[in-house]
Amino acid sequence: MSRLIFVLNGPNLNLLGKRQPNIYGHETLADVEQTVISLAKELRLEIRFHQSNREYEIVDWIHEARETAGGIIINPAAFTHYSVAILDALNAFDHPVIEVHISNVHKREEFRHRSFVSLRADGVIAGLGTQGYTLALRRLAQLIDEKSQAQT
Ligand code: DQA
Repeated sequence: MSRLIFVLNGPNLNLLGKRQPNIYGHETLADVEQTVISLAKELRLEIRFHQSNREYEIVDWIHEARETAGGIIINPAAFTHYSVAILDALNAFDHPVIEVHISNVHKREEFRHRSFVSLRADGVIAGLGTQGYTLALRRLAQLIDEKSQAQT
């Protein structure tokens, strides 16, 4: 079982820390990446951390993960609410997927209550701020370790 995890971030998350800090906080995406990478070292996992404002790039990274990774953490941002292409790509990925939202989407506008990605995700974290990423990583580590033990 691959110990490589893809952490994928959708549109506008490059502005994390600057954009609506009352909703998304003051941490930047680079801060989140560093925190995730340092926890991954502890958990003996490897990380590919990406962000894009373009749907096709996220689809392409999911295809890459399909060949190489043991899990995906994805914050699809606005694509969550309408991207069938990202859902289809995730449906072609055979390992655990955790969907993360920094804000509690269920407390916000009604259009944010619907997630196409949740139709595939094995778990969803929303409203726990950027801590959602590290919690998702701990969960994936546990799932991968359990699977590896079951195989030995
Ligand atoms: C988000 C929530 C989405 O509704 C929004 O479009 C985002 C960020 C979050 O992390 O809370 O860009 O995914």
